[in-house]
This record gives sequence, C-alpha cells and structure tokens, in this order.
Amino acid sequence: KKTGYTALDQGFVNTASTRSAITYIDGDKGILRYRGYPIEELAQQSTYLETAWLLIYGELPTASQLEEFDEKIRRHTLLHEDLKQFFSALPHTAHPMSMLSSAVSALSTYYEDSLNVHDPEQVEISTIRLLAKLPVIAAYAHKKSLGQAFLYPDNSLSFVDNFLRLNFGTLAEPYEVNPVLSKALDRLLILHEDHEQNASTSTVRLVGSTEANIFASVSAGINALYGPLHGGANEAVLKMLSQIRDSGEGVAKFVERVKKKEEGVRLMGFGHRVYKSYDPRAKLVKESADEVLEALGVQDPLLDLARELEQIALADDYFIQRKLYPNVDFYTGVIYKAMGFPARMFTVLFAIGRLPGWIAHWREMNDDPATKIGRPQQLYVGPPERHISR
Ligand code: CMC
Repeated sequence: KKTGYTALDQGFVNTASTRSAITYIDGDKGILRYRGYPIEELAQQSTYLETAWLLIYGELPTASQLEEFDEKIRRHTLLHEDLKQFFSALPHTAHPMSMLSSAVSALSTYYEDSLNVHDPEQVEISTIRLLAKLPVIAAYAHKKSLGQAFLYPDNSLSFVDNFLRLNFGTLAEPYEVNPVLSKALDRLLILHEDHEQNASTSTVRLVGSTEANIFASVSAGINALYGPLHGGANEAVLKMLSQIRDSGEGVAKFVERVKKKEEGVRLMGFGHRVYKSYDPRAKLVKESADEVLEALGVQDPLLDLARELEQIALADDYFIQRKLYPNVDFYTGVIYKAMGFPARMFTVLFAIGRLPGWIAHWREMNDDPATKIGRPQQLYVGPPERHISR
C-alpha cells in the first residue's frame, strides 16, 4: 500500500521483496535449508536432480517421480543444430558466462510458446528444457574456448557424467568418467542450488514479474551472477591466490593491503550479506577439498595458500569485528581446477548449480496471485524544476 513516504534502503539490506517457501537461511547461526531440509543432509544423501525436484516441486520425489524427471531431462539434452552455429559467431576468447547468457536468451527464439507464461504445460516443458540444455550450452562454451569440436550428449549417462564427458571428452578418444569426480561435482552443485533472494535470483524474479518468459529471466540471472561480488567470486578467488603466489608478497602482507582498503583489493571469497558466521556451504566445500584433491591425485599449493589466508583472516580483528568468514566461493575454485576446469568456467558451474533455484523462484513468483511487477522507488536528488534560457 502507498504510504506517502519512501524509505531509502540501498542494496535492499532491510527490505523483503517477497514471501517465499523455498529456502530458509539463519545467517547468524549458519543455517541453510531447502524446503526445510538441512543442506548438510542433502549434500550427503541426495543428488543434484533430486534436490532440483525438491526445490521446484516442494517435496522430495518418489523413486518413480525421480526416474521420470531424469528420463525427461535426458530426452531434451540436444540443442537445435542452428543454435550450435550460434557459437561460431562468437570469438573463442569470449568469456563462457557471456556465451551462456546469450545462448539461454536465444532459447526463447526456438521455443516461442514459452512466452505463454500462464500455461502450466509450457512452464513445465521450459523447466525441463532449461535443466537439460544449460549443461550442454555450458560445455559447448568450454569447447569453443578450447577450439575443440562439440560432442553430442550421450543420454545413456547420468546428468553429471554426461556433462563431464561433454567438457572433457573428444571425438578422438573415448572418455571414461571418474566416479570420484562425478560424485564430488554433483555434491558441489547441490550446495549451489538455491540461496533465497540473492542478487541473481532477485533479478530472475524481477524480470519474471514483468511476465517475461523463463528463458529471458534466467538469462538475466546468469548476467547478474557473472559479477565478481556474486558468482564471479569463485574465479576471482583463484586469480587472487595465483597473484599472491606469483608476486611472492606473502599472505600476511596481502591481508594488510585488504585491511587498508587499497583500491580494488578485497579478500575474495570472504564475507556475505546474510551470513555473519561461517557459511555452512563453505564448511562442506572445505571438507571436500582435501578429499577430492587426494582422490584425484592432485597436489595444489594454492589450497595451502587458501588455508593460510583463512587462518590469518579469522584471527584478525578487522575480519572478526566485521564478521567476515569464508563463503561458498572460497574453496570451490581449487576443487574445480583439480577437476580440470579452467578458471573461466567456474562461474558457469555455479550457474548450473543455481539453475533449479532460479526456476523454483520464477515458478513461485509466477504462481503467486499476489505478485506485482517489481518497481522500486527512488529518492530524487537531482536539480529542482528549471527552464531552458537561451
Ligand atoms: N574483504 C575485505 N573487506 C570486506 C569484505 C572482503 N571480502 N567483505 C566485506 N568487507 C568489509 C567492507 O569493506 C565493510 O567494511 P567497513 O564497515 O569498514 O566499511 C564491511 O566489511 C561490510 O561490507 P559490505 O560491503 O557493506 O558488505 P555487503 O553485505 O554489502 O557485501 C559481499 C557482501 C559478499 C558483496 C562482500 O562481503 C564482498 O565483496 N565479498 C567479496 C566477494 C565475494 O566473495 N562474493 C561472494 C559472495 S557469496 C556467494 C555469492 O553470493 O555469489
């Protein structure tokens, strides 16, 4: 209701934009639950697709519901051949996140029925298409940057195995999926699936509130995720760790520069708008890091550097007073790197992880009769009325 007065809340620190039944976070206690289920339980016992179902439909699926969902997704992995040509128009140096958002936006041109946002059948098929095709688009963005041929999906493989083969397989040699890698990636994707009203999800909802279709809304979400303060932080962390290593300046000196707030220097992968204690996702990622690197037989001094950085920061008053802890992006990059992904693919992996959350929020927004077009207020601080005098 119009109150006649506009409160300024820069960055939406205190303003709820919606009611939502999807994800619960208690930032002081470090609690994250999807539809009531603790993230720790899901990471241990669920899979990416099962958790996606949970987020989108509200309950854990029965075995046959999950099987049918998985089957449908496998059936929709192919990209239109013309859409594959779309990648030829882009430079091989393009950032995969830009390729991803552009190709997802282009999906609207192939599936124009999705414009009918109030037709449940269209919403359902668009959901399946997005879940099935985003990983394929992501892998093609990767292949494009390597200058390698795109593979067709192999639908006999599981969701994650198919994705790994599309990224690391070649036409020249058969690709054997390493089950350790596959399990670890599935687990990381679960941890990223939703995070209530973060910047990209809020973007998806805002765009969707205009009754724009789900492909357009998710494409906007991917662009919001790209920024280094959001999903782009995982790539930025690796860059930061590599710079510390290469410059030889040492972790303690780098932390001093962060505290002095030198221009452009932040401890990437640290701090969060909502968590004022250890990010529960970061805790799980950190536990995985050792395990995965060991299982893959990779030794990476950047992991030691990350641990040292965390230890120094957590003992420092600057970080203690501001309640800055590692967030989900702090350790993921080291694991993705060990899996063989280049740094520029890290945020793409985040996007695949976050997709079920974006879909769940778009659908919740779209189904809610209380939804209104998102249209924030402003406080005008420009000149008062004036007139042209010539
Ligand atoms: N390094 C150094 N100082 C920091 C950091 C950091 N990473 N994060 C916050 N601060 C300081 C900030 O300078 C400010 O200090 P002061 O009170 O003296 O001005 C105080 O802590 C509060 O920071 P803020 O910028 O007001 O906090 P915010 O809630 O607006 O920002 C954030 C949250 C995540 C954007 C920020 O912590 C940040 O830039 N972190 C680094 C980027 C990053 O890791 N992003 C990933 C977030 S988690 C996954 C995701 O959402 O994608």
